[in-house]
Parts: sequence; C-alpha cells; structure tokens
Amino acid sequence: MIEIEGIGRRFNTRDGGSFEALKDVSFSVKDKEFFSIIGPSGCGKTTLLKMVAGLVKPTAGRIDIDGQTVIGPGEDRAMVFQQFVLLPWADILTNVGFGLELRGMSRKESREAAKPYLEQVGLTRFAEHYPHELSGGMQQRVGLARALAVGPDILLMDEPFGALDAQTRQLMQEDLMRLWEVEQTTVIFVTHSMDEAAYLSDRVLVMDTHPGRVREILDVPLPRPREESTRRSPVFNELTSHMWHELRGMMGDPTLPAPE
Ligand SMILES: Nc1ncnc2c1ncn2[C@@H]1O[C@H](COP(=O)(O)OP(=O)(O)OP(=O)(O)O)[C@@H](O)[C@H]1O
Ligand SMILES: [Mg+2]
Repeated sequence: MIEIEGIGRRFNTRDGGSFEALKDVSFSVKDKEFFSIIGPSGCGKTTLLKMVAGLVKPTAGRIDIDGQTVIGPGEDRAMVFQQFVLLPWADILTNVGFGLELRGMSRKESREAAKPYLEQVGLTRFAEHYPHELSGGMQQRVGLARALAVGPDILLMDEPFGALDAQTRQLMQEDLMRLWEVEQTTVIFVTHSMDEAAYLSDRVLVMDTHPGRVREILDVPLPRPREESTRRSPVFNELTSHMWHELRGMMGDPTLPAPE
C-alpha cells in the first residue's frame, strides 16, 4: 500500500520567496489498484508522482510504501514519462533492457530478458530498429515495455499517452488494460483526459490547484474487464461529466454553477 500523508511541496522563486505547489495532500493507493490523478495544469501532478518515485523530496509530510518511508528511487518503482525518453543510439531491444542494465545485467543478458516484454507490447519485429524509425505510439510502447521489464510493484505513469493521436491513444489504453490485468502491478496514472481516467481506473483523484490539493476521490464502479462498450455505458458518462463539471468549476467558468 502507498500512503501519502500530509504531503506539501514548496519551491523557491526567483525573487527569493517561495511558492506552495502542493499542500496537505493525503490519500492512499491499495496494492494492485489502478489509481488515476487528474487536475488542472500546474496543480502538482508530476511533482506528486516524482515524490512517489523518490525523485523529488516533499517539504512536508511523508510517503510510505508498505510501511517504509520513501527516501529515494527504488527497484520497486518504475516511471513512464510523457516524452518518449528512449536512447536514440541504441536499438529497441537494448532500450527495453536498459533498466535491467542499470541494475547490473550485461548488455547480452538484458537484451535476452527484454524479449518477452517487447513481445507483450507487440513490437518483436522492431527489436533491431532505432527509436527514430518508430511512430510515437510505438515509442511509448517501448517505454512501457522498458518499465515493465524491471518487474516493478508500482508503475508511475505521467501522461504517457498525452502526445498521441486520439485513435492510437484509445488502442494504447486497451493494451495497457490488458497488460495490467496480467501483470497486476499497482499503477498511479496521471492524465488530462477524463475519459482515459474513467476507462482505466479503479479510483480517480481530482486535484484542486493553487496550491495543489485533494478535491475529491471518485470510485469507478465499472465492471472489469473494461471493454469498448464500457465507454458508452451510462455510469461512464455520468462519471466523466462529473469530472468535467468539477474541472470547469475549478477554472472558474461563469456559465456553470459552482460545484457544491
Ligand atoms: N523544480 C521546480 N522548481 C520550481 N517550480 C517547480 C518545479 N517543479 C514544479 N514546479 C512548479 O510546481 C507547480 C506544479 O508543477 P507540476 O509539473 O507538478 O504540475 P502538473 O500538475 O504536472 O502540470 P501539467 O498538467 O501541466 O503537467 C507548477 O507551478 C510548477 O511551475
Ligand atoms: Mg505534469
């Protein structure tokens, strides 16, 4: 279980002052849960995810994973970023195995160990291609395979499909669901898309901004496995319009009544 307790983060500003990016954020994520975070740009989603990854330190509060306070990155966690952060000079198989190489495997061993993961994301025949030869969606699949290859308990995904076109994005969501059902890792997934959050998640955290904090946590009572028809169900529509309403309200849209 991931327990986020009273997390706050201040950043120094150029004028010598400080800026409160996150304030008193508390929530927990259960083992094997698919947990999404949505909220306006700048509300601190990436900062929060990096804190769970151990890449950014909180200035208040703490994060415990299975009772251990996070003090830095660990082998139990892997992160997938929005930008395709592949090594341009290495072929796809080396890219997928790279996390394992960082953990001490030889190039040869890591390439071998990477094969099933490349297979899982359907890119076996691109093993010896280079990143620039792949489309954005394919590159993001490689990023996902690389994260899965290290066998993390927790997968942290920061708008992984944000740069993809709508159709590719939908296919990637379906692939991710299929992989997650097999791998059974805990996922914290940051997105701007309400549809994506509703389709994928067990629960969705809606964040408020200035400073970033918890607005509400929604249960997603949609049956699994999620299917194409999930996106047309009344529950799905209710949920996404609720999120839309919350986010519109937060951005101060005068044509909408303020949320309760
Ligand atoms: N290293 C840093 N130094 C100073 N300010 C920072 C730093 N990192 C983030 N911030 C500020 O903290 C706030 C939250 O940033 P963050 O990137 O976490 O937001 P976000 O919710 O991920 O936004 P987006 O949806 O646009 O990706 C922003 O105002 C940002 O400018
Ligand atoms: Mg971000």
